[in-house]
Amino acid sequence: MTQRGMFITLEGGEGAGKSTNASWLADYLRSQGKDVLVTREPGGTYVSEAIRAVLLSPDLPAMHADTELLLMFAARNEHLQQKILPALAQGTWVICDRFTDATYAYQGYGRGISLQRIAELERWVQGTLRPDYVILFDLDVTTGMARAQARGRADRFEQEHAAFFERIRDGYRHRAEQMPARYPLVDAAQPLEQVRVQLQQVAERILRECTQG
Ligand code: TMP
Repeated sequence: MTQRGMFITLEGGEGAGKSTNASWLADYLRSQGKDVLVTREPGGTYVSEAIRAVLLSPDLPAMHADTELLLMFAARNEHLQQKILPALAQGTWVICDRFTDATYAYQGYGRGISLQRIAELERWVQGTLRPDYVILFDLDVTTGMARAQARGRADRFEQEHAAFFERIRDGYRHRAEQMPARYPLVDAAQPLEQVRVQLQQVAERILRECTQG
């Protein structure tokens, strides 16, 4: 029987550098002989990318927080069924730029939706599937917002205030503190080369643990 692929997610606030590092991590793991798929949320399939466009559009009127939550899980369900689960089942490692921890951080800690409600949807959509590792790119809010602003026109989330992003950072850190073994932390305030050194150490640890396990 084929061994299920590892499911690794990258998380963090705005401007933390997850996306550029996702492809670097994938290349590193491929160099170690792994078959790797890189994808992102919200998005990753045609339908989920269409939902992403609605979620991120700064041109649509404000939406109710529960609508935002349900759209995140609708996009996630499609992504899981069409792409993530089939890849994992055939032994491919999946690196996903954001996943359900972002929902806890943004919709839970950020928007104030009850964590219990998010947990119910998580169980409904994912069953028992959880990421094997959640790599958290931690960065102070001021630096993150400045980096995100430098990228161009702000999307609906990037237009939020610093207090929203402070709650998100606290939320992520709180989750990481509860389950430190599953949440390797990367100090994303460091220069890119240093971030890469940290990321390679995390990747080496994951490779070690998956051969042991
Ligand atoms: P990105 O900027 O990392 O591509 O992510 C898109 C935005 O969507 C980002 O601001 C975080 C937000 N988001 C949530 O609010 N909840 C979620 O569950 C996910 C996956 C993303």
